[in-house]
Amino acid sequence: MVIQKICCLGAGYVGGPTCSVIALKCPNIKVTVCDKSEERINQWNSEKLPIYEPGLDEVVKQCRGKNLFFSTDIETSILEADLIFISVNTPTKTIGNGKGRAADLKYIEGAARMIADIATSNKIVVEKSTVPVKAAEIIMKILRANTKPGVEYQILSNPEFLAEGTAIVDLVEAERVLIGGEDTPEGQKAVQALCWVYEHWIPAKNILTTNTWSSELSKLAANAFLAQRISSINSLSAVCEATGADVSEVARAVGRDSRIGPKFLEASIGFGGSCFQKDILNLIYLSECLNLPEVAAYWQQVVSLNDYQKTRFTRKVIESLFNTVADKKIAILGFSFKKNTGDTRESPAIYVSNTLLDEGAKLHIYDPKVEHDQIYYELTHPLVTNEPELVRKRIEIHDSAYSAVSGAHAIVLCTEWDEFKTLDFKKIYDVMMKPAYIFDGRKILDHEALLNIGFHVQTIGKRLSRTSSIRAQGSQTMP
Ligand code: NAD
Ligand code: UDX
Repeated sequence: MVIQKICCLGAGYVGGPTCSVIALKCPNIKVTVCDKSEERINQWNSEKLPIYEPGLDEVVKQCRGKNLFFSTDIETSILEADLIFISVNTPTKTIGNGKGRAADLKYIEGAARMIADIATSNKIVVEKSTVPVKAAEIIMKILRANTKPGVEYQILSNPEFLAEGTAIVDLVEAERVLIGGEDTPEGQKAVQALCWVYEHWIPAKNILTTNTWSSELSKLAANAFLAQRISSINSLSAVCEATGADVSEVARAVGRDSRIGPKFLEASIGFGGSCFQKDILNLIYLSECLNLPEVAAYWQQVVSLNDYQKTRFTRKVIESLFNTVADKKIAILGFSFKKNTGDTRESPAIYVSNTLLDEGAKLHIYDPKVEHDQIYYELTHPLVTNEPELVRKRIEIHDSAYSAVSGAHAIVLCTEWDEFKTLDFKKIYDVMMKPAYIFDGRKILDHEALLNIGFHVQTIGKRLSRTSSIRAQGSQTMP
């Protein structure tokens, strides 16, 4: 079967970039990305796309209106498509059974019901969203229970491995594409049809085919492994701070072993993003449901260590500022969960900011790409405070790092944006309150240079000389 028309349900961080690259690489396929949100589709059709992703604007400009379309007309798009990607959100459940751990599949179910209601011809339905193992069975049950006479479905699993901030490169030069399908002649035909789409630009040897359940589990496993490396190095960062070892040196030495490798060993304030925590919690819940409590406890530790790291860092900020930040002006540099994205989902900066606000601090926040409204939303929505107006008064959002730091007692660097490395810290020191503190949660600044300027500096996984002497003095007076 040759794919001529693709529909994608969900125009988010995955659906938008993934389908834009498919359209770029497959000029003979018509790709329509649909969403229930009219606002999001309008943004995709405008000059300012709804997400910031390096290289995305160029791809969209090249294809939009030719073979790439963004639309709320889900019905027409499903009717004409040979293949439908489901790229909807699968957040952690916030109510009911499995609350706080299980994936909420209501949007997946909604998408499946839409397809069943509308489709009048055979479709290949592809799970692009990250789902628990056996989710394809749920989709199949819904589709088969509601199918129209003569309409047949094949369900494939094709999880997405792109990382935000590098999505376009990740998609164009994917190390692997994973496709899982049923081990039946029809299932394998569908697998081959999707392989054919990717083979427009991905070498066949990089396209892995498996059974459906292996594919679904591999996605959860890949994210769990990556997050586990970060928690491992973060656990050692605490040991480094207590002993005088330097976590960057340890990571370099450990990562040089080719069996371990150097990537994802960057100690930090903690991992964020919409995927890691959610997907590990999903794996934990799955393990519990399968009566595998030891497996669940093992992965739980990765999340717990991440919480510990965020708490440890924030506590260090407060303790260093004489154990009180009430009414102190603190500059937060970086609010997104990593550089090169405007996404704030599960950003460690949110935890740091909320804790400092709870302690009475005044926050002056700057991020190069996060929208101001998004920052206000993250810090004032009902789940984080019941005094949104009070919190709002304690936050000021700036359009440059220099204006955020003016008059500040301390700078807390939460995101590793490149522009922070080249700030003029002498100029910054001059306009800050003294003693002036910098807490580098990403280990990106030149700490020696900062110490020489006169800053008190703390970072992750390394004791800095002035800090240790100050801490030694401070510990006599601290409660
Ligand atoms: P997102 O929230 O940015 O986008 C999801 C979109 O789906 C929303 O715009 C929503 O309005 C839309 N939607 C929901 N139900 C719909 C329906 N029935 N019809 C049409 N549109 C519908 O989410 P995302 O970050 O793109 O993630 C999507 C999935 O991909 C999740 O399962 C996630 O775990 C997975 N994933 C995300 C990333 C990432 O970097 N963000 C990477 C790999 C995998
Ligand atoms: C992740 C996976 O990498 C990707 O394959 C999957 O498809 C979606 O989830 P993403 O969350 O977009 O991608 O970004 P990633 O680069 O993995 O970073 C996640 C978090 O870990 C960020 O907060 C980042 O700052 C942090 N991180 C990453 C570290 O703290 N140290 C590291 O060494 C690497």
